[in-house]
Amino acid sequence: MYRTRTCGNLRLADEGLIVTLAGWVQKTRKMGGMTFVDLRDRYGITQLVFNHEVDAELCEKANKLGREYVIQVTGTVRERSSKNPNIPTGEIELVVSKLNILNSAVTPPFTIEDDTDGGDDLRMKYRYLDLRRNAVRKNLELRHKMAFEVRSYLDKEGFLEVETPVLIKSTPEGARDFVVPSRMNPGQFYALPQSPQTFKQLLMVSGFDRYFQIVKCFRDEDLRADRQPEFTQIDCEMSFVEQEDVIQTFEGMAKHLFKTIRGIEIKEPFQRMSWQDAMKYYGSDKPDLRFGMKFVELMDIMKGHGFSVFDNAAYIGGICAEGAATYTRKQLDALTDFVKRPQIGAKGMVYARVEADGNVKSSVDKFYSQEVLQQMKEAFGAKPGDLILILSGEDAMKTRKQLCELRLEVAEQLGLRDKNKFACLWVVDFPLFEWSEEDQRFYAMHHPFTSPKPEDVPLLDTDPGAVRANAYDMVINGVEVGGGSIRIHDSQLQDKMFKLLGFTEEKAQEQFGFLMNAFKYGAPPHGGLAYGLDRWVSLFAGLDSIRDCIAFPKNNSGRDVMIDAPSAIDDVQLDELNLKIDIKEK
Ligand code: AMO
Repeated sequence: MYRTRTCGNLRLADEGLIVTLAGWVQKTRKMGGMTFVDLRDRYGITQLVFNHEVDAELCEKANKLGREYVIQVTGTVRERSSKNPNIPTGEIELVVSKLNILNSAVTPPFTIEDDTDGGDDLRMKYRYLDLRRNAVRKNLELRHKMAFEVRSYLDKEGFLEVETPVLIKSTPEGARDFVVPSRMNPGQFYALPQSPQTFKQLLMVSGFDRYFQIVKCFRDEDLRADRQPEFTQIDCEMSFVEQEDVIQTFEGMAKHLFKTIRGIEIKEPFQRMSWQDAMKYYGSDKPDLRFGMKFVELMDIMKGHGFSVFDNAAYIGGICAEGAATYTRKQLDALTDFVKRPQIGAKGMVYARVEADGNVKSSVDKFYSQEVLQQMKEAFGAKPGDLILILSGEDAMKTRKQLCELRLEVAEQLGLRDKNKFACLWVVDFPLFEWSEEDQRFYAMHHPFTSPKPEDVPLLDTDPGAVRANAYDMVINGVEVGGGSIRIHDSQLQDKMFKLLGFTEEKAQEQFGFLMNAFKYGAPPHGGLAYGLDRWVSLFAGLDSIRDCIAFPKNNSGRDVMIDAPSAIDDVQLDELNLKIDIKEK
């Protein structure tokens, strides 16, 4: 046995015990005739002491230990004279009588400490060393615990974990597929699943009425802080359920996670908001409800007073930032620059301060009487000391999205996006379709298997854009942590859906024939949801990017810089796969 205890669990009560530890040398320091070594393993750090007077040879050996050497020590636990209250083992030290060097180590490219000197790129290149750091290790521990609690909850609820294949068929809806050439079938490709959607529906046809899988999904899409090309879903499906059943089951799971992982007991049901309201009041289908600043529309009040920007607008709306009238001109100019950045695209921003006497002082005072400004103030319910920020534009949806960015930025500046506060929300009643101006066609807002609300089915023929879906997303603190829907289980309705999405019968048959055929053999009503595990973990760990809770993530260009992937393959491999590379200049 290499060790009898770990570096994290010795306490004062263990004084006098003789133990053997193994781990990595974090640091060594010499003080007089003593040498101190911080020995680290996954569980913590224990201070080792070597005394020159007692055993000079052993102490010399300790003095030569380099950072990250792997060692095994045996010694006696002793109370420390100068205690370290910052670590759990801070009251004791190990007086070493035996030192065995298990392996030497070259000097690591950055310090393996909480506040490391390594930049992002370096840490990613040497991720296996980065993972030795507390911060990153803790995230993986949290991830393990979450996956464990997910399985525990779903098992109790009667769900079965079933694995579905990773080499599947390409279905270019939604994001782009990653594809894998088949050697045995020249010129043909597998695709990696964007989600196990069709398989879980097939499992319902097979009678596995409660399925789940913690599963890798692959999407070739542009990366952001909350997106990775390979990520993990907690994918679930249920038979003989309506929307409310699915929502109850997975709200239950969310509450279970809050309780077991964060110690937060949520008794009341999660808030629900229609997609329409989310867009109208927050300009987003994933509003952050940790704070207010709900949009107020000002068309009636502000239009037609000679201010041409507003007079020509299709939308005028604003937010009221409580107590922010102290914002200086410089801060307001910076906010204006923020909304004018090309990524946001607003033309400008109007502001108004509510002064101590209740009067409103705005950047467009010359166009508006105090009476109109007072009406505006009333519309927001603004009080003295508040700051009103207004955007307008010729495209209502675009302007709302800009206002959404402004709302989030102001909340950030005012410290309202508290990582220890959680606002959980179901966004419901999504539109079934999304119209693409560019392609002049409808796309499924969720995916083509999502069912319309029964009362909206007649609209499929007359006004498809107005049909609402039996679809729901769970949003926490402005992050979409999951989404799902009640599926179509009727092959005729599914046919109609494919037609509306521009599929010819042949194309639909070619891509989804297996599913449509399966439905002919008795498909139960079914529905489900998938949570994004990475997003849940980063939310609970308070991380800014999901990358930090993934052991070996990709960088923003989709590269794994540690193993240097993707990379070219050699000609023999290409030949076997019947592939020729022809890179086009872009
Ligand atoms: P959807 O596409 O909404 O639904 O995905 C479900 C959840 O997965 C997470 N997610 C991601 N996380 C990290 N990186 C990504 N690139 C990424 N893309 C998605 C999000 C999201 O809410 N089959 C359906 C689910 C269903 O209908 O049951 C689906 O995949 O948290």
